[in-house]
Amino acid sequence: MAAEEPTTRRVQVAEHPRLLKLKEMFNSKFGSTPKFYVRAPGRVNIIGEHIDYCGYSVLPMAVEQDMLIAVEPVKTHTLQLANTNPLYPDFSTSANNIHIDKTKPLWHNYFLCGFKGIQEHFGLSKLTGMNCLVDGNIPPGSGLSSSSALVCCAGLVTLTVLGMSLSKVELAEICAKSERYIGTEGGGMDQSISFLAEEGTVLAKHKGLQWDKVLRLEEVQTKLGVSLQEMLLVTEDALHAEPYSREEICRYLGISLEELRTQILTPNTQDELTFKLYQRAKHVYSEAARVLQFKQVCEEAPHNAIQLLGELMNQSHRSCRDMYECSCPELDQLVDICRKFGAKGSRLTGAGWGGCTVSLVPADMLSSFLTNVYEAYYRRNSRSPALEKHSLFATKPGGGALVFLEA
Ligand code: GLA
Repeated sequence: MAAEEPTTRRVQVAEHPRLLKLKEMFNSKFGSTPKFYVRAPGRVNIIGEHIDYCGYSVLPMAVEQDMLIAVEPVKTHTLQLANTNPLYPDFSTSANNIHIDKTKPLWHNYFLCGFKGIQEHFGLSKLTGMNCLVDGNIPPGSGLSSSSALVCCAGLVTLTVLGMSLSKVELAEICAKSERYIGTEGGGMDQSISFLAEEGTVLAKHKGLQWDKVLRLEEVQTKLGVSLQEMLLVTEDALHAEPYSREEICRYLGISLEELRTQILTPNTQDELTFKLYQRAKHVYSEAARVLQFKQVCEEAPHNAIQLLGELMNQSHRSCRDMYECSCPELDQLVDICRKFGAKGSRLTGAGWGGCTVSLVPADMLSSFLTNVYEAYYRRNSRSPALEKHSLFATKPGGGALVFLEA
């Protein structure tokens, strides 16, 4: 599995309405025919929130919604990007001089991250240009990882244009790293599932990849050689519930404020004045224990797994809300409504602080669940009918990134 490359599939474009429409739009935009198409899915995280970058296993699932890009390599060094969504303007640049502006989360910058990541991986300074038309159907800003899907899709587009090969794992590592060009400090979950997902399965993924030298909570556990339950006790013992000031942390570690800022904190956290170390550690170790418990039950007593998953999802939401503090009143309300109308488990998913929730609903209740939740939450709260249309849907495990060639 680790060495496996993304699949290339030959398709009759005429038989796939979305590909056909993209091909026609590409033709009217660039006056030519795409040479190939690439898709990379978004994801929903079922359980295991904010623990991938601490070194722990998570349980994401690729969704059917994806980024699809039609591509034509060209002889010039110009990279031309267009989007089927008129909200996202055209962009063009020299392929040899990629500049990603961290201060502007413009759509094309996510493409550039994947493009630059592959370019740098192979140490290439001169890249061939290409025309690309992007079509995404992952609701943006909803916590379903549309940005990472675009980075991954662009990475695979670039690899395919270069005629090079990389395994799915290598691609995921490169794309996770290159998304940082735009300032995202993710833990690699989104890119891993986008490449490694298999249709119809849910992937339990262990993220043991060491991208930097930050001491993660998982390493603390490994060094101590104790279980997650014991780590929860260690946390109780070692840390106090009141927030820590920067000075207190410095005193404790015997380092200067400058060392704390530059060597321990990330660009996103270096201006924080206080740190809830106890709450964050409790969340991480208990969330990691939930993922592990689910994995064990799947292996040892699979008939109990779904019911347990519902309970673990509910516990996870409480921990995200109270310990990690990444929920918000709207997500809490939505989770309550979902449970009221039959979800066996419901929780915020993705980074949080907005975004979306994921619910585990028995198949025979799905239709009434969707109607009731729509009435109770979306019809009442949404001001935009366009947003409502994409806001609530049932999904199943989607496959990972693919290249399509016209047969
Ligand atoms: C974002 C990051 C992921 C993960 C989640 C929180 O989606 O990109 O790596 O950390 O937040 O679980």
